[in-house]
Amino acid sequence: AATQPNLAEPHDALADSPFLRAARGLEPAHTPVWFMRQAGRSLPEYRALREGIGMLESCMRADLVTEITLQPVRRYGVDAAIFFSDIVLPLKAVGVDLDIVAGVGPVVARPVRTLADVEAIEDLTPDHVPFITQAVRELVSELGATPLIGFAGAPFTVASYLVEGGPSKEHAKTKAMMFGAPDVWDALMRKIAGIAAAYLEVQVAAGASAVQLFDSWAGALSPADYEKYVMPHSAGVLARAGELGVPRIHFGVGTGELLGHMARAGADVVGVDWRVPLSDGIARAEGRVVQGNLDPTLVFAPTEVMTARAAEILDAGRAAPGHIFNLGHGVIPSTDPDQLHRLTDFVHEHSAR
Ligand code: CP3
Repeated sequence: AATQPNLAEPHDALADSPFLRAARGLEPAHTPVWFMRQAGRSLPEYRALREGIGMLESCMRADLVTEITLQPVRRYGVDAAIFFSDIVLPLKAVGVDLDIVAGVGPVVARPVRTLADVEAIEDLTPDHVPFITQAVRELVSELGATPLIGFAGAPFTVASYLVEGGPSKEHAKTKAMMFGAPDVWDALMRKIAGIAAAYLEVQVAAGASAVQLFDSWAGALSPADYEKYVMPHSAGVLARAGELGVPRIHFGVGTGELLGHMARAGADVVGVDWRVPLSDGIARAEGRVVQGNLDPTLVFAPTEVMTARAAEILDAGRAAPGHIFNLGHGVIPSTDPDQLHRLTDFVHEHSAR
């Protein structure tokens, strides 16, 4: 009987999945692998489905969210799905006038500059995002033993879009508010943290089995400024996510000097970008599981060059309490999906216990 799969308890297969075992610091059957931005423009089936449909519209249609989320899982056999949405979607859902412009990113019609602007933003309730609940439920039933990662944008990164009004390199207006108008900054960070936490709660309540907090642009900050102006707010989101009982991944780009802070903010898994040798990332993550960290441009190298680098990362990852293989940032849209398929197979074969 022990050899029969127990169909009455489907959750056991999920809990025993390589991704969730690694995220909890338990030995997995192989090192799990998924790719940030695995769904999206690199896939021809995504481009076909999105034909004539805006990005935000596709995020608000449960049928499209479900299908787009499943596409890379079917194609690559990755160890986790990530819910297809965007970090600014919850803002759109509570009524902020914004769009996601192709090739540009999120654009906010009236940037947030004053306390009144902050106070005009509604808090998020499940009623704002019924399509999220529906899509997550559908996905969890379709995915079976493959975990679904829910996600939200961290307060600093989301604030950058709201204050700048669009993508930014220097985040100058955002940091001007942070340094010069601490009361407005504090109110804005609290507002976004509340929205992010509520958004994660909706996803976990509907069945997501892990969450990732994306603080993509936190690397623009010094450790002291991160600690003073940002960390308490990210910690608040991660604390609320922790109460839901799911593993929490905390990721940013260019955050080599912040990894310890990002761990202490309340992460179970620390995302490491490719600029930091994984062995250094492991030391800086202070005992947490790590995720990463292949340079996303290595998919454009010959396959054997890419897999040789992946092997080094897998070998370095053995020194961590757990390792989830990923790229150091998102899949570049011109990536050849066949390379990611070969990479997935290589990670599984090279790390099989
Ligand atoms: O597969 C997945 O990873 C899930 C989908 C996902 C999207 N955005 C879809 C998307 C996730 C996890 C995000 C998060 C996100 N959005 C982040 C954090 C992750 C990171 O990359 O650092 C950030 C900073 C954003 C903001 C944002 N939205 C940017 C910078 C862009 C790209 C602009 C462009 O067109 O180059 C977007 C748009 C976006 N989000 C697209 C997708 C698939 C492209 C839109 C399209 O297909 O037209």
